[in-house]
Amino acid sequence: MYRTHTCGELRMEHLDQSVTLSGWVQKVRDLGGMTFIDLRDRYGITQLVFNEESKDLCERANELGREYVIQVKGKVAERSSKNNKIETGDIEILASELTVLNSSELPPFTIEEDTDGGDELRMKYRYLDLRRSSVRDNLVLRHKMAFEVRNYLNSENFIETETPVLIKSTPEGARDFIVPSRMNDGQFYALPQSPQVFKQLLMVGGFDRYFQIVKCFRDEDLRADRQPEFTQIDCEMSYVEQDDVLNAFEGMTKHLFNKIKDVDLNFDFPRLTYADAIKYYGSDKPDTRFEMKFVDLTEDVKDSEFKLFNSAEYVGGICAEACASYSRKQLDQLTDFVKRPQIGAGGLIYIKFNADGSIKSSIDKFFKPEELMKLGEHFNAKAGDLVLILAGGLDKTLNALGALRLEMGERLGLRDNNTFSPLWVVDFPLLEWDEDSKRFHAMHHPFTSPKQEDLALLETNPGAVRANAYDLVINGVEIGGGSIRIFNDELQQRMFKLLGFTEEEAESQFGFLMNAFKYGAPPHGGVAFGFDRLVALFAGIESIRDVIAFPKNNSGRDVMIDSPSPVSVDQLNELKITLQTKEKE
Ligand code: AMO
Repeated sequence: MYRTHTCGELRMEHLDQSVTLSGWVQKVRDLGGMTFIDLRDRYGITQLVFNEESKDLCERANELGREYVIQVKGKVAERSSKNNKIETGDIEILASELTVLNSSELPPFTIEEDTDGGDELRMKYRYLDLRRSSVRDNLVLRHKMAFEVRNYLNSENFIETETPVLIKSTPEGARDFIVPSRMNDGQFYALPQSPQVFKQLLMVGGFDRYFQIVKCFRDEDLRADRQPEFTQIDCEMSYVEQDDVLNAFEGMTKHLFNKIKDVDLNFDFPRLTYADAIKYYGSDKPDTRFEMKFVDLTEDVKDSEFKLFNSAEYVGGICAEACASYSRKQLDQLTDFVKRPQIGAGGLIYIKFNADGSIKSSIDKFFKPEELMKLGEHFNAKAGDLVLILAGGLDKTLNALGALRLEMGERLGLRDNNTFSPLWVVDFPLLEWDEDSKRFHAMHHPFTSPKQEDLALLETNPGAVRANAYDLVINGVEIGGGSIRIFNDELQQRMFKLLGFTEEEAESQFGFLMNAFKYGAPPHGGVAFGFDRLVALFAGIESIRDVIAFPKNNSGRDVMIDSPSPVSVDQLNELKITLQTKEKE
């Protein structure tokens, strides 16, 4: 037997028991005549003591290197100096036998919480990084959450069904990863960007309630919250309206918070229209842990003498409470922040409502104090508050003001990771205009149904049509998105036409779906949650890479297995693929 207990298990109640432990040597401390070893496994760390009574054992212990795998037999004893930082900190093992199960080369970084390994190195040796407790804890959390998702959805009558991975292009708006088919000359599979069409076909197949914790693949630019392969909790339901789907998945979200984080979200998640989300927060995924809503001043300042204001398409601002004492330097920092190229504002205007009742502003040349006071009233600004204003083109300024709002929330400590503020953003536009291709694109995907009351606008004013589409947003993160689908062949054809598909294109890409819709498709809708994002949110971390066992880097590479990588000429020949090599300049 390799072990009687784990390295996280022994306590005072085990005193004097003879035990056997196996694990990795984290640290060896040779105190001359006495050697202490921290022995680690998945469950924790236990201190081993080798003392003079067995000189030979002590010497062998001193020879152990970091990450050696050992087995130790010994007695549980009370520690003279207790370590309250670890759960086994009251005890230690007086070792009487030592077996080296495996040696280890010197690891390239220290496998402790404060590791000296940089990101790239830790990714290259991810199997060593996985031994660190924070990485392990994130993956244990992920496991628990997946387990609870299955528990909940099973209890609600959802059936987990696998769908294929080698498929045809799916319309989620990113680029596909494609896979050549050896058996079908010159033809390719695409990896699913989501199981969208299959889950709809399962509804036609009568499954009624489907879910799957499933890998999805999207070839898009990567960020902290985006991986080329990621996991969705994917769901679909028949005979449902929007409220049915929202209620079901609000229930699942509450269940997870309750079971995993012991947080009771015992309120109805607010529902905010897309239009209001943009108007008040400049974002379709607002962080509502704090208020600081936008105030639109465009009409109030359009007759002012200040050129920037009277010529701007949009003038709006936010009120940062108790920030009137901001120094010149702090205001300059904020100005630099909004002028960053990715934010793109031309400058920042401030009005300080000082605690002594005076007003100081960067525009006091153009506005009298009473006029500034009036502007402040729109924000309910009190003495001590700071109003920050941006002006310019509508979309760009709303976006920049959104970034400024988040920055102020951050500076004021209003974005606490242990506070959770969920909401549904609803009534997304059905279509969005793409300047490059001069065409409308589906904002969600082409199977999303338009709102019944907006149907008449479909051909006359397509940009104004709202969709039965929704997102779940928590703390400014888009956790999930879904829609009620079109289930009628004729409406689906109209939609494809609007999106610029010819009949032949629609037929070749989605003919199978439209055909299925001819055989009694039930009304249906669904949602997919980004599982990696949800786990990262629960873990209180930004990057989803930290909740994935073997993630890819920002160039889409797995640096551990060195992938992607070239394939052999034989493999290419078999696939009848010739590579175009770039001509040397
Ligand atoms: P959508 O494209 O909105 O909808 O995706 C659903 C959720 O998946 C997560 N997500 C990602 N997570 C990590 N890396 C990525 N590259 C990535 N892309 C998306 C987000 C997002 O909210 N088939 C539809 C769902 C439906 O209509 O039912 C779909 O995939 O959290």
